Amino acid sequence: MHKELPIFRSDGAADEVTPARTHAPRGVFIKTYGCQMNVYDGERIAGLLAPLGYRSVPSPADAELVVLNTCHIREKAADKLYSDLGRLRETKAERGDAMMVAVAGCVAQAEGAEIQARAPFVDIVVGPQAYHRLPELIARAARGQGVVLDTDFAVEEKFDVLARDRQAASVSAFVTVQEGCDKFCTFCVVPYTRGKEVSRDSTAIIAETRALVQQGVREVTLLGQNVNAWRSAAPAGDGGRDWTLGQLCRALAKVDGLARIRFMTSHPRDMDDELIDAFGEEPKLMPFLHLPVQSGSDRILAAMNRGHTAEAYLKIVSRVRAVRPDIALSGDFIVGFPGETDKDFAETLGLVRAAGYASAYSFKYSRRPGTPAASLPKQVPEGEKDARLAALQALLTAQRDDFCKGLVGRTLPILFERRGRQPGQLIGRTPYLQSLHASAPDSLLGKVALVRVTAVTPNALAGDVTEAARSTLLDAETSRG
Ligand code: 5AD
Ligand code: SF4
Repeated sequence: MHKELPIFRSDGAADEVTPARTHAPRGVFIKTYGCQMNVYDGERIAGLLAPLGYRSVPSPADAELVVLNTCHIREKAADKLYSDLGRLRETKAERGDAMMVAVAGCVAQAEGAEIQARAPFVDIVVGPQAYHRLPELIARAARGQGVVLDTDFAVEEKFDVLARDRQAASVSAFVTVQEGCDKFCTFCVVPYTRGKEVSRDSTAIIAETRALVQQGVREVTLLGQNVNAWRSAAPAGDGGRDWTLGQLCRALAKVDGLARIRFMTSHPRDMDDELIDAFGEEPKLMPFLHLPVQSGSDRILAAMNRGHTAEAYLKIVSRVRAVRPDIALSGDFIVGFPGETDKDFAETLGLVRAAGYASAYSFKYSRRPGTPAASLPKQVPEGEKDARLAALQALLTAQRDDFCKGLVGRTLPILFERRGRQPGQLIGRTPYLQSLHASAPDSLLGKVALVRVTAVTPNALAGDVTEAARSTLLDAETSRG
């Protein structure tokens, strides 16, 4: 994933970090790699720096500050950083102090020393819990103190600072409610790079959501590495019991003007009754569940330290379907975990057939130094991983296509988010998260309207806005003005 956003640079004036002061425009180039959490962090970094005068520029060559917002989850993602740094080295050599380079995100957290050794021209190394201190770090780097490193964990402070500096929002917005992971799957670096599970306070989340709705947001996606591990004290006046994610979704559903709520990514071990019931009872909670399982073999699930069996996973899926039969299920899979046999892999295919997915991500196991699985015997040869990945993806693609084809002819509520490439075309999302384009008036932007799905295109659905939706906006009672 690649995103370029506004940010900034250093010069002597960067010592001044008070947002109240007016700063001359400066160029910033941000590149984000990896997951939704990172995309969100990239946006928050941009929002944090914009008041200081930083605006987006199209390439590092035009930027006074380059931020590489990195991902460490698979080897390929980390390799990409080093190859990008290799290219930046020349630009930095030409521009010297006129361009500052910051490496942010999970590779910064995990490999700070290696980054310094392999790319000594990097000015700032900042972990995912310390972005909010970037203005200060830039000021320090500008004073020429050598590389500035900040990889402390102080997540609650970050939630608050970054939320406050949010930029103008669109129709759909991310709200980070939880960070970190205590699950320690044996293949995964996240518990080491993002730290332990920390939840953001419910009152702050509700307040941020209200503020977003005031700015025109109609849909929030609650983000967290283990979002359904979210726990918080109930707001004052709501009894003594702590809230879990189901209660948070219900509270957010009461925010006037908010049309849709989503959350990702969930862990099967944290799917409690409260959350499952919310799918059945709360119409604003969209029928889409991203619930990674990784493997269908109990032997491999145990070696991965997932803490659940294939049967337990399928039971959760059927409990969710019992209350919300149209739920679109999404998952993550890893093929070629050490010791995975043909039989284990066949069990993964069996689980996919039994669960039925509307979308999924699948990966070849990537050996991550420092994780327990990296030193397991019986690493699976690359060719074998390739073959399994191809077979799994063929099955998942067929399921996704079937799911999409099953929607043709149906009339669905679509939240229109932006203009399409064709004149008179808008792009929106189905409740199941697919993109849909339709010819529709601009007055439907930011609104939910009924659309009859007419076709499946390679990356989206196509539909016709119903006559009723053209004349009466479905969500008039919740839309602002
Ligand atoms: N190798 C391959 N895939 C991985 N993931 C996490 N760590 C690894 C790894 N070492 C995948 C998992 C996870 C998703 C975010 O990335 O499927 O759910
Ligand atoms: Fe990684 Fe497992 Fe935590 Fe997900 S639950 S972030 S895969 S350790």
